[in-house]
Amino acid sequence: MTNVAVIGAQWGDEGKGKVVDWLASRADVVVRFQGGHNAGHTLVVGNETYKLSLLPSGLVRGKLGVIGNGVVVDPEALLAEIARVQGQGLKVSPETLRISESATLILPFHPALDKAREAARGDAKIGTTGRGIGPAYEDRVARRAIRVADLAEPETMALKLDELLRHYNTLLRELGVETFTKEAMLAHLLALAPKILPFAEPVWERLDTLRKEGKRILFEGAQAVMLDVDHGTYPFVTSSNTVASAAASGSGVGPWAVGFVLGIAKAYTTRVGSGPFPTELFDETGRKLGERGFEFGTVTGRPRRCGWFDAAMVRQAVKIGGIQGLVLTKLDVLDGMPELKICTGYRINGERSRHLPAGMAAQAAALPEYETIEGWSGSCRGARSWVDLPAQAIKYVRRIEELVEAPITLVSTSPERDDTIMVRDPFEG
Ligand code: IMP
Repeated sequence: MTNVAVIGAQWGDEGKGKVVDWLASRADVVVRFQGGHNAGHTLVVGNETYKLSLLPSGLVRGKLGVIGNGVVVDPEALLAEIARVQGQGLKVSPETLRISESATLILPFHPALDKAREAARGDAKIGTTGRGIGPAYEDRVARRAIRVADLAEPETMALKLDELLRHYNTLLRELGVETFTKEAMLAHLLALAPKILPFAEPVWERLDTLRKEGKRILFEGAQAVMLDVDHGTYPFVTSSNTVASAAASGSGVGPWAVGFVLGIAKAYTTRVGSGPFPTELFDETGRKLGERGFEFGTVTGRPRRCGWFDAAMVRQAVKIGGIQGLVLTKLDVLDGMPELKICTGYRINGERSRHLPAGMAAQAAALPEYETIEGWSGSCRGARSWVDLPAQAIKYVRRIEELVEAPITLVSTSPERDDTIMVRDPFEG
């Protein structure tokens, strides 16, 4: 038995929620290690649909949830999410949720600057979720962030607020946006402290103990490799490392404790926000994919851009992300399409390339090279074994497996948790 890390292999929204939920039922603890409430995981359990942003998905299955040091935590958003899922009957308490005392807090001036900067960028905007994720991570590396543990130290918060507000108010004033006062921010933090501190602890210690007891740990990634701040389509990325190695640094375990790395990819491609997307479809087929796949952002409700499966990009994500097995989701959305295209590489300014290069202009110029595969007339919806799949669908999956150079470990055929074809149990390593 091993631990498992789940990461996105495209630009997010690959259906990680369902896969994590499915795996969580067999894990003992679920750990978030990066990102914040920019993530949106939809879990369908029976008649209930849970929309989680910050809470580890395992909570839905009654498993211990851990928020690691690599996560940026908006305390108000967290408390609102806890209240919402409690309204749906879930129990969230300091017994079921632990938060790293070293996690960085998102405070009201973070979303204020995030939104003001995006507005100032005009057409060059990144298309962020406006949740303050970027500014909070900037504070973390700038060594001025207020962290969970600081909530117990009013003097520390007051000291840090001096530097933070000097920084933020200068920028906000320049951008023509309302500024913040130290008194109001300190009062805000002092009011939040008793609500957040009961959840706080050195989670690395708990994870160490759980690991020694042989408990199964599931590391739940948010966003995806192509949104990674180093490896993604920079600058149209999020502000954290989304690759599997971040699971170790973002929760306080050794790299060897992360276990089997499972990548999730949709059977086609989607993206929200701005940035390059070589296989994007602007025609009827793209519209159909969006409609049939119900492609609207969980967090922002924005319609997602849709396109063909980009095997060159997923191959890149497999290598960079350390993906050992791939889950293909939403195969059923392709039911009835007469033909399908798979991108196998790019033509960039007349030159062929097998990968997306790092340059911003080169990425924008990347034109897809396709191979075409015949579609299928039968349905994949609800299939739970290979024999339930149309022969052409199997061919499509096998071709993807070949091109991305990673074994297909699971195939998901509907939003229902059990509509899954398991090829290999990730916990078996
Ligand atoms: P930020 O993370 O809010 O700064 O947004 C940066 C980029 O990442 C934008 O293009 C967002 O649309 C994208 N992004 C952030 N979180 C998610 C997610 O959970 N799914 C898909 N895209 C995301």
